[in-house]
Amino acid sequence: MSEYASDRPRFFVIAVDGPAASGKGTIATGLAKAYKLPVLDTGLLYRCVGVLMKKARGNLDDEAAACAAAALLTADQLDDPALRTRAAGELASRVAVHPRVRNALMEFQRTFARQEGGAVLDGRDIGTVIAPDAPAKLYVTASPKVRAHRRWTQLKAQGERVSQKDVLADIRRRDARDGGRDAAPMKPAPDAVLLDTSEMTIEQAADAARRIVEVARARWNTTS
Ligand code: DC
Repeated sequence: MSEYASDRPRFFVIAVDGPAASGKGTIATGLAKAYKLPVLDTGLLYRCVGVLMKKARGNLDDEAAACAAAALLTADQLDDPALRTRAAGELASRVAVHPRVRNALMEFQRTFARQEGGAVLDGRDIGTVIAPDAPAKLYVTASPKVRAHRRWTQLKAQGERVSQKDVLADIRRRDARDGGRDAAPMKPAPDAVLLDTSEMTIEQAADAARRIVEVARARWNTTS
């Protein structure tokens, strides 16, 4: 039986899923700080595999090669600023369609989730596949236009020159690929609370997320 399969999950895992630039990363970091929990941006794992494939001039559609790259991945590779680029996001989405790549990255994520006290993980399939029994699940969204504007601002600050129109096209393409794939498609878990941040400031979104988690935490505390 899995450690997640009791009435009261042992680990207070906060699953934060949602599409690119929805605000989930900022929300996850804020929640981790508020609850003094470690946080994992699982998108970095896929970005790292994509960048490794690119460096090796591999074919992104080659599932076996991408799986071999995923198997070599270590935690210290995740701090590389090259993983934060626009190109890395696209590479990540391409390798993330492969079920064997997802499987190769699963144990790393589940081990992270099973830390004493709990953990916060953000991604696309945390609430559905990685930690389906997480006591707190959020699905963070925003309109494609708002997300494109946020991502464009972020990329500009990183020194990338790109138009908002191109960023919007990236976002739409990634939404379609991430949500349309067969393996662990991006979607809200049935028990996730939806949080649309389109009309919210970062502070408002962080507050709203905190309130959602407070309710989940109270429920988790009273489950024996
Ligand atoms: O969150 P992000 O933009 O860094 O993610 C990059 C890509 O990685 C995303 O387009 C799809 C993939 N991904 C995934 O399939 N599952 C996750 N848990 C996280 C990211």
